Amino acid sequence: MDFKLTEEQLMIQQAARDFAQTELLPGVIERDEKQIFPAEQVKKLGELGFLGMMVDPQYGGSGLDSVSYVLAMEEIAKVDASAAVVMSVNNSLVCAGLEKYANEEQKQKYLKPLASGEVIGAFCLSEPEAGSDATSQKTTAIDMGDYYLLNGTKNWITNGGTASYYIVIAHTHPEKKHKGINAFIVEKGWEGFEIGLKEQKMGIRGSDTHSLMFTDVKVPKANRIGEDGFGFTFAMNVLNGGRIGIASQALGIAQGAYELALKYAKERKAFGTEIINHQAIAFKLADMATHISAARMLCFKAAAEKDAGQDISISGAMAKLYASQTAMDTTVEAVQIHGGNGYVKEYHVERMMRDAKITQIYEGTSEIQKIVISRGISK
Ligand code: CAA
Ligand code: FAD
Repeated sequence: MDFKLTEEQLMIQQAARDFAQTELLPGVIERDEKQIFPAEQVKKLGELGFLGMMVDPQYGGSGLDSVSYVLAMEEIAKVDASAAVVMSVNNSLVCAGLEKYANEEQKQKYLKPLASGEVIGAFCLSEPEAGSDATSQKTTAIDMGDYYLLNGTKNWITNGGTASYYIVIAHTHPEKKHKGINAFIVEKGWEGFEIGLKEQKMGIRGSDTHSLMFTDVKVPKANRIGEDGFGFTFAMNVLNGGRIGIASQALGIAQGAYELALKYAKERKAFGTEIINHQAIAFKLADMATHISAARMLCFKAAAEKDAGQDISISGAMAKLYASQTAMDTTVEAVQIHGGNGYVKEYHVERMMRDAKITQIYEGTSEIQKIVISRGISK
């Protein structure tokens, strides 16, 4: 087992680190406060090849491995978790799903601009009455011969207002339960496709989350992904990989908060010494460093297994479950180590604490990860 990163992986990590420091750090507090989408920064991420990292260069991607993706996600999320989720959705839900399952025509038309970062995409599974229980969704796409007629509402869609292309999961044969679900590529601007108001969120406030309403939207037959009835398997397989992205986002949030807390603990004095010399503070930092290291190993393991073509349903879920708990615990303690300063915006850790919470909810809650893991290990 080789724990050494390759030259290429180190270069990607450094490029993401530099980008985060120079382009994301300035303005991150204001974007959070005013819920400003990092449009310019996302455009630059695309130009640098960070929006289609694992996609084959023939489709506009960077052709990198998944470990490089984990490294880059960590660096971006360390500074700006909102930019990181835009990156994660585009890379591991939208581009990865299209590269693996779309046909050549769909790849040429949709994957190329998405992977090169010319446009961004969204992945639309959740509904008002169907989040964790994804098969109980109500959106329908009825076969009308040349096209499908799409009706329904999707909730909480990341990149909902800013995307150009949307992968929408819908029932075509509701009586067949999950075997009657399909995935479609839908374009912004199609008649009957309406974008709801932007959600006012606790964290990742720079990201753009909307409901989407579909009323008699005509979706060409050519825009169905895969064979008839493949949609639920598509969504589950894509989410297995997506969970590595969110695990890496959580890892980055944790690492960012830990680094700030460590620095602060070495500088801040109380009772005549730097607070790191108080064992209660030092032990918190020791716990943080240990959990972060374990979370990183789980992310690398899932990423390496993905690149080796193995089933990553369990390892992806484990990485997300553990890294998101680590992000939550670490950010709460980072605020504590900062004392009163931890409670104000300019020290960053309060934002990180709010950002951390979502990693335990989206792309499958922690309870759902335990269902996936327990079903997997009992097989
Ligand atoms: N990988 C591959 N296939 C899977 C799978 C997995 N992880 N989990 C289930 N499946 C398959 C099963 O094998 C089964 O297929 P077959 O009948 O062909 O064998 C089918 O899916 C149905 O499985 P279950 O009977 O287990 O289904 P269920 O209804 O009991 O529960 C679930 C399935 C795992 C709970 C699933 O509904 C789930 O993952 N829910 C969470 C949804 C989710 O993660 N949403 C995220 C939305 S995207 C997002 O959030 C993006 C963002 O924030 C940025
Ligand atoms: P529910 O499913 O109603 O769950 C409520 C609680 O019950 C949770 O604690 C859950 O863990 C628990 N629970 C439910 N079922 C079980 C069970 N069987 N056993 C034990 N506990 C259970 N979705 C998309 O499709 N695309 C996106 O881009 C996207 N982005 C998002 C961005 C944000 C900011 C947010 C908040 C959500 C986003 N989501 C997106 C939706 C997200 O995936 C769902 O919120 C999530 O899957 C949970 O679904 P729910 O909110 O309906 O909660």
